[in-house]
Amino acid sequence: MSKLIKPHGSDELNPLFVMNEEERNQLIKEAESLPSIIINSAAAANAVMLGGGYFNPLTGYMNVADAMSVAENMKTVDGLFWPVPVLNVIKDSSEIGDAKRIALRDPNVDGNPVLAIQDVESIEEISDEQMAVMTEKIFRTTDKAHPGVSAFNSVGNIAVSGPIRVLNFSYFENEFPDTFRTAYQIREEMEKLGWEKVVAFQTRNPMHRAHEELCRMAYERLDADGILIHMLLGKLKEGDIPADVRDASIRKMVEVYFEPNTVLVTGYGFDMLYAGPREAVLHAVFRQNTGCTHLIVGRDHAGVGSYYGGFDAQAIFHDEVPEGALEIEIFEADHTAFSKKLNKVVMMRDYPDHTKEDYVFLSGTKVREMLSNGEDLPVEFSRPEVAHILMDYYMSLNK
Ligand code: ADX
Repeated sequence: MSKLIKPHGSDELNPLFVMNEEERNQLIKEAESLPSIIINSAAAANAVMLGGGYFNPLTGYMNVADAMSVAENMKTVDGLFWPVPVLNVIKDSSEIGDAKRIALRDPNVDGNPVLAIQDVESIEEISDEQMAVMTEKIFRTTDKAHPGVSAFNSVGNIAVSGPIRVLNFSYFENEFPDTFRTAYQIREEMEKLGWEKVVAFQTRNPMHRAHEELCRMAYERLDADGILIHMLLGKLKEGDIPADVRDASIRKMVEVYFEPNTVLVTGYGFDMLYAGPREAVLHAVFRQNTGCTHLIVGRDHAGVGSYYGGFDAQAIFHDEVPEGALEIEIFEADHTAFSKKLNKVVMMRDYPDHTKEDYVFLSGTKVREMLSNGEDLPVEFSRPEVAHILMDYYMSLNK
């Protein structure tokens, strides 16, 4: 019996990927004769997350009543705590007709292979007003300049609900064989390592020294057995660094600067929502499903631009997540930066005597500019091994 933290909403993890190969092959065959639709990238990412057990205990895509209830109250109509609607939204339902079972085709893989089979429970139109309410609740803005808002509002307004069986993990397994892991694989790995108290680090960026030390501080202060670095491998907004480059730089950092067997470097297949606080709560749900006891939430977690306050993604856990809704706990990190006075990375709240001038700060824009020009980053800001991998990437863009 595993000593890992329980998944969200059930005693055992119930991933929707069809594990039995014979059954899977039968379903793949059946899919050939079913009506099929090419789903949008966010819906495909939802299928990958459902397949991997990350979205336990959901069994498929939500209907409009559940999606509205989740958006407005962070729980389904039946009362399951859940922070973000999980939808399969399309523009045109004519291909489905009155079919009760359909094949969902992958928009992100050549030839659009079948990703999952869905039992159609309902096909409903989401009104403009409902779209606006959901958008405002999930993103705290309806501004179309917000990358998550624009993605959410561009895929259509017909929700196809119902349970799914997942047949593969889209492009993630082939493109990131060493890094893409399902929630059940991570649980297995952590059990093998004998880890029980594990702190997860969510990231969509390369890790500079502040991030490295944040992980180390959480690990030490919590007296944890291990750190799960868990990077997003799905779609990002333009200008963000591609997953393979982030992966290489993070692996290098772990190899050189962490004790062996203290860190698992892994990734998950989901498109970034940039939904700040609500996405932080979703992050907590699916890290609990991987078996982690803690999730680091620092400054502007899952944020973009200036849509969210620096620590809104921590406040939501106090203000809106009901007591007992989640078992995973949040490791709340303050702004972390290199102190010139102390010659190390610190959390700013721990040193009230410091002024801004005592820290090394570099904006993202400045970092990009320096790396594109082949300039080294200050060692206080970035490990040289990490900076060089990023420099190669930025310089390749100039060619
Ligand atoms: S995120 O969109 O995936 O959250 P990012 O990869 O930049 O973005 O951040 C990963 C985690 O590190 C988040 O919890 C974020 O709040 C935290 N973080 C990043 N930089 C800092 C910093 N300088 N100080 C404190 N927390 C930080």
